[in-house]
Amino acid sequence: MKNLILEGFMGCGKSRIARALGDDTGMEVIDTDALIEKEQKKQISDIFAAEGEEAFRNMETALLRDLLKDTKNCIISLGGGMPVREENRRILKELGTVVYLKADRDTLVGRLERGVEKRPMLSGHDLEKRVEELLAARKDFYDDAADVIIDIGEDDPDTISLRIRKELGL
Ligand code: S3P
Repeated sequence: MKNLILEGFMGCGKSRIARALGDDTGMEVIDTDALIEKEQKKQISDIFAAEGEEAFRNMETALLRDLLKDTKNCIISLGGGMPVREENRRILKELGTVVYLKADRDTLVGRLERGVEKRPMLSGHDLEKRVEELLAARKDFYDDAADVIIDIGEDDPDTISLRIRKELGL
């Protein structure tokens, strides 16, 4: 069985939906942000502060290359910026089936109002403007990387897990 990969903007619920999918399928769950934090022994906001965004993006690409070597049958929850790099999108196509958890700007802004300080791509910006700007810049990359698009709407993680499993025949 191929890996099942979740992509989408910050706040769309990737980690929670990955956990629901893990519970429902018994598949192992991998979270790229959590793996990078474990490896670096630092929080993502501290990595950005100390080394900058480019260094973090390099860590993401290195992690994807590693996952491609030996990871199978897993649910992989990606950091929201992962599909921006062309190399990452190429690796993702080989690594598994990519599900894009799509949400509109207002839904995302509502969900992101708490926890901005943990997200260096958002902190220090006007939230609405920043989400709009980043969504516009990333939209084509998310679409391009996706095998399946799930509009999350108002659904909770368990319902979305069910919808994904139906769509993929799991
Ligand atoms: C980022 C999203 C974050 C994390 C980092 C950068 C982004 O992950 O990887 O702060 O550029 O969208 P989440 O999508 O899990 O918040």
